[in-house]
Amino acid sequence: MKEKRDLLTLEDLRAQGILAVLDRADELKALRRAGEPMPKPLAGKSIGLIFEKASTRTRVSFEVGVFELGGHPVVLNAKDTQMGRGEPIEDTARVLSRYLHAIVIRTFSDELLAKLARYATVPVINALTDGGHPCQILADLQTVRERKGTLEGLRYAWVGDGNNVANSWIEACTLLNLELTLAVPKGYDPAVAVDGKRIRIVRDPREAMAGADVVITDVWASMGQEGEAAARKAAFEGYIVSPETMARAREGAMVLHCLPAHRGEEIDGCYLDGADSAVWDEAENRLHAQKALLEYLVR
Ligand code: CP
Ligand code: NVA
Repeated sequence: MKEKRDLLTLEDLRAQGILAVLDRADELKALRRAGEPMPKPLAGKSIGLIFEKASTRTRVSFEVGVFELGGHPVVLNAKDTQMGRGEPIEDTARVLSRYLHAIVIRTFSDELLAKLARYATVPVINALTDGGHPCQILADLQTVRERKGTLEGLRYAWVGDGNNVANSWIEACTLLNLELTLAVPKGYDPAVAVDGKRIRIVRDPREAMAGADVVITDVWASMGQEGEAAARKAAFEGYIVSPETMARAREGAMVLHCLPAHRGEEIDGCYLDGADSAVWDEAENRLHAQKALLEYLVR
């Protein structure tokens, strides 16, 4: 039996896999836009989509993506399954592998994700954990390439929490040798290590944004951190993407936000609602990037 391929973190794809997925995502997007027939690599295959946390974009883009590739999406709210009543993840993995051709899961624990992948005999895809959001970064990179024509030679700035999305951005920039500066308040550093050279952590958002071509932010309190929201609001004051902080960025710099966003907290509404906002393309690209990913991983 061929070894199955998972996407737990972007390291599983390595640079070559990321670039292959991005190229294919562009092709699939162009086909869809032209109204051309979609390839059906998932014909006769069923893909499980398990959600233990809320989702709009990931849930809908995966479900539609599986359908468009000819497959059958099986969407499960974890708490309506026996997982929600404590059935061990090892047993869930073994059973679901007998029915499904891949398992996409959004959950809290990276340990649970790793265990699911270890016991499953079909590919497992991380659709967001506390530690990472690799599918988001595939769409983000696709959006950067569309707008800037390249990923290389650009300066990337992250402003805000060193959260799951930041972790996956660090992984992407490490694998692709991109230059990323993260402005994160003390105590909120990302879990993924940085080399301190091409990828650096600073405390001052203006320092990170100086000369940036791509500015990325996300909410101050992620799912599961609702109880810390007030403390975080105080800690993140000033870590905002606004016309004032963006004045340091390079002319024509683009702003990314995975959404959902809090206008007036981490981002000024003008970067979402303005005519050249990138975030709606970014959200759309979840569909194309994930279709390319499914085609790449599911055999
Ligand atoms: N960006 C993102 O993953 O959105 P959802 O939480 O709506 O899936
Ligand atoms: N960091 C956010 C991303 C949501 C898509 C969260 O985990 O809630």
